[in-house]
Amino acid sequence: MSMGQRLPILVLREGSRRSRGRDAQHSNIMAARVIAEAVRSSLGPKGMDKMLVDDVGDVTITSDGRTILERISVEHPAAKMMVEVAKAQDDEVGDGTTTSVVVAGNLLSKAEDLIDRNIHPTTIIDGYRKASEKALEVLERIAVQVDPSDKDALRRVAMTSLASKIVSENKEQLAEITVEAALLVARTIGDEYRVDLDDIMVKKKPGESVVGTKLIRGVVLDKGFVHPDMPKRIKDARIALLNSPLEVEKTEFEARIHIESPEAMDAFLKEEESILKGMAEKIASVGANVLICQKGIDDTAEYYLAKMGIAAVKRVKKSDLEKIAKATGGRIIVNLDDLRDEDLGFAGLVEERKIGDDKMVFIEGCKNPRSVTILVRGGTERIVDEAERSIHDALCVVRDVVQEPKILAGGGAPEIEVAREVREYAESLPGREQLAAQSFAEAIEIVPTTLAENAGLDPIDILSELRAAHERGGVWMGVDVLGGGVDDMMKLEVYEPLAVKKQVIKSATEAATMILKIDDVIAAGRSKASPPPTSRGYGGLG
Ligand SMILES: Nc1ncnc2c1ncn2[C@@H]1O[C@H](COP(=O)(O)OP(=O)(O)OP(=O)(O)O)[C@@H](O)[C@H]1O
Ligand SMILES: [Mg+2]
Repeated sequence: MSMGQRLPILVLREGSRRSRGRDAQHSNIMAARVIAEAVRSSLGPKGMDKMLVDDVGDVTITSDGRTILERISVEHPAAKMMVEVAKAQDDEVGDGTTTSVVVAGNLLSKAEDLIDRNIHPTTIIDGYRKASEKALEVLERIAVQVDPSDKDALRRVAMTSLASKIVSENKEQLAEITVEAALLVARTIGDEYRVDLDDIMVKKKPGESVVGTKLIRGVVLDKGFVHPDMPKRIKDARIALLNSPLEVEKTEFEARIHIESPEAMDAFLKEEESILKGMAEKIASVGANVLICQKGIDDTAEYYLAKMGIAAVKRVKKSDLEKIAKATGGRIIVNLDDLRDEDLGFAGLVEERKIGDDKMVFIEGCKNPRSVTILVRGGTERIVDEAERSIHDALCVVRDVVQEPKILAGGGAPEIEVAREVREYAESLPGREQLAAQSFAEAIEIVPTTLAENAGLDPIDILSELRAAHERGGVWMGVDVLGGGVDDMMKLEVYEPLAVKKQVIKSATEAATMILKIDDVIAAGRSKASPPPTSRGYGGLG
């Protein structure tokens, strides 16, 4: 290449779009605000629900922030980042997704005002970061220590989370179930508790109503026993766990058997039958009275198992089989010949019950008390789905508190307190950062404002009342959305995990600052694999 030739610096693919500087910022902030605005009305116990229809017409009804954002397909990259905020919040702590998105949106909206006043985004980012650190410090300081095994406190925490769900009518019962489940699977490590939510199976079964939701100390299988003559109720169950079929193996190669007489045919079938009978006998010989099989069971084998008084379930999901092994202390066997009595699992009771129109097998009183199942019921599939999502949130907040036993009161009380302290702190910052920190304080007040708005209260009145109450030292004064005024949220027992509120500050600040830092958006054009239907060839060049 000769020296004089100039290289192009940046080549964008045809059809790429680029927006920079103020334009890029404006469009990003707009997109993020639109997302925040979309979920805002669903915040709090008086929030509205959303009906989402996907491209094949399936309907979801929910008020869960993450679910709403996941199901709406967004195009704009900044809007996608907001959806990520909700996911991050959900993965970390399981609740507060709506709040974090709403706060992030408002942080950006305030930032836009500052940018209009010629304050550089970098300064805003610095101010926001400092303010958010202060906010975390305040939350940590005002949080109240609880006993991680205090069922009453945990129940209140679960109830606050459930209060804003469609199934809130059943919040007492569901809170009871989630607390019970979380405590059953909790284990101590040193002087701390750990709750692994994977230990709690959640099974859905439409029918009855949410009231029918139950906690089962054990594992539940979504199928019945394979043969009507099998016992329906087995006490002191000795359970064989098998992940190979109880069938006569098909040859790997295509084989042809020549049978020349009726006797030979008979002998052949007898042979097959005796193999299957032998399999059932093998299971009986180690003293098993229940068989859980991941693969199929031949009709003949089913017949012999039933005859020997062994109850069997077939085609069980691998994950379920593993759960049962863990729960009953049994070992999963690949080759039936290897089965020995020490491989069997134990359960106090294995029983087939009719739930709605279907049969389910309950394995209870397991060796390992740490395996529990929540069987979710509800009038329709949609209700069951939403109940499951709500139970997930409730389990998460209970786990959060068991693992970090500190709580705050809700109803916007901590947000007002944080705002008050951040404003005070802002005074100590240099000029422009001070403005940013003040904006941060204002932005976080969106939580009580929205709670009030969604409850049909006057947000301006409520906000000034709350600010005044906090000036007078009322740390827990918040929006009593049910009573319709301002009250002490700790007294009303609206408890929330410290972990959730801290994560809201972290995820919202992170998202807002990330979006503010962008001043150049380069979007690739659509790939040539899917040209718009009207275009011919490549961009008219051909
Ligand atoms: N009885 C109550 N009075 C006042 N505020 C309440 C009450 N119960 C819950 N809240 C408040 O409602 C807010 C939570 O609302 P919601 O559950 O709809 O949103 P989220 O937790 O941010 O998001 P999601 O649950 O969708 O993940 C919290 O600020 C909480 O303090
Ligand atoms: Mg919630």
